[in-house]
Amino acid sequence: MANNEEEMVVTPWEVSGKVDYERLIKEFGTQPLTDALIKRIEKVAGYQHLQLRRKIFFSHRDLDVLLDLYDKGEKFVLYTGRGPSSHTHLGHIMSWIFTKYLQDAFKVKLYFQLTDDEKFLHIRDLTLDDARDYAYDNALDVIAMGFQQGKTKLIVDTKNIALLYELALRVAKLTTFSTARAVFGFKEESNIGIIFYTAVQSAPCFLESVITGKKVPCLIPAGIDQDPHWRVARDAATRLGYYKPAQMHCKFMPSLQQSGKMSASIPETAIYLTDTPKEAKKKIMNAFTGGRPTIAEQRKFGGNPDICPVHQYFYFLFEEDDKKMEELNSTCRRGEILCGECKELLAERVGKFLLNHQRKRKQARNVLQKYLLK
Ligand code: TYM
Repeated sequence: MANNEEEMVVTPWEVSGKVDYERLIKEFGTQPLTDALIKRIEKVAGYQHLQLRRKIFFSHRDLDVLLDLYDKGEKFVLYTGRGPSSHTHLGHIMSWIFTKYLQDAFKVKLYFQLTDDEKFLHIRDLTLDDARDYAYDNALDVIAMGFQQGKTKLIVDTKNIALLYELALRVAKLTTFSTARAVFGFKEESNIGIIFYTAVQSAPCFLESVITGKKVPCLIPAGIDQDPHWRVARDAATRLGYYKPAQMHCKFMPSLQQSGKMSASIPETAIYLTDTPKEAKKKIMNAFTGGRPTIAEQRKFGGNPDICPVHQYFYFLFEEDDKKMEELNSTCRRGEILCGECKELLAERVGKFLLNHQRKRKQARNVLQKYLLK
């Protein structure tokens, strides 16, 4: 647990304190995403996605190995997921937007896992029925991202467990309690379900290999908080005769408040994809910023976009044009734009995005069955 605001904690179940991404690369033992690797993806995709250009995806494991295999003609599968504990928020879709870019570029299959089991086990007051309902609700957001119908399979754990169980057992047998405790920090009071659960999240890494009967590489785009699971999966992979799953890790979209990531468990920090534009605007207008206490000081000394979540939202999702982004940054520093103006502009963009998303989300109901793994 974080003892104070500044202590960095990054696990699949807790992200707090100021996140130092360089330090995470060292501590987790991952690799920085290099320009050379970004160029290799660009070569296939035809352009650099904003999340590559801005190094929002900043770290990886074995992406080079996966791309070498791809160059030799071995197609990979994509795998990502969501723990359905609430409605989806803007932070969750960062890696999904990027996953869609990869699916379109490489024309590959995607497995998307909805872990109602995990959230039931982890969140004291969440019933299994509620977690499952959220799984199907969140699935609509996934479909609304535009993933290709024939190439995208949604796994709902409690529904599809028969398909995952053998793989999960094989991973579990190779994973000792002492490894799991070291990786996830389990305590005496941790329930035994959550200790086993990592094997369930590892299973989809190898699912395509089981289905096709040959070794298929797998690439997982996700927030770096999920990395501990991949350490377990990678350890088991070679012993099970599969490729180690490759990863690409993204940074966290910040909370609207002063520190931490946008988190589903703290509603005021998050903009949900089901929020009305009015609700979203209210949260944005109440957000912490990098501004000065008074207009006069702001005009004189300028604001600090480096610590401002409002600025970060433009950077992560809502201002694609690099030149305009730079302009927003410098007008803030020079005190030429006030926080209220910046918030209004963001609220307008977020509102438009939400309306468009909610229209697609409605249509997604008609095709949900086609995306669910049978
Ligand atoms: P969950 O539901 O916590 O998060 C879903 C995905 O969103 C990422 N994420 C964020 N990314 C950027 N900014 C944020 N503020 C932010 N908050 C969350 C997470 O890193 C994740 O990629 N155990 C998983 C579910 C899962 C999964 C997977 C995730 C099962 N298999 C494979 C990724 C890949 C979970 O609870 O994710």
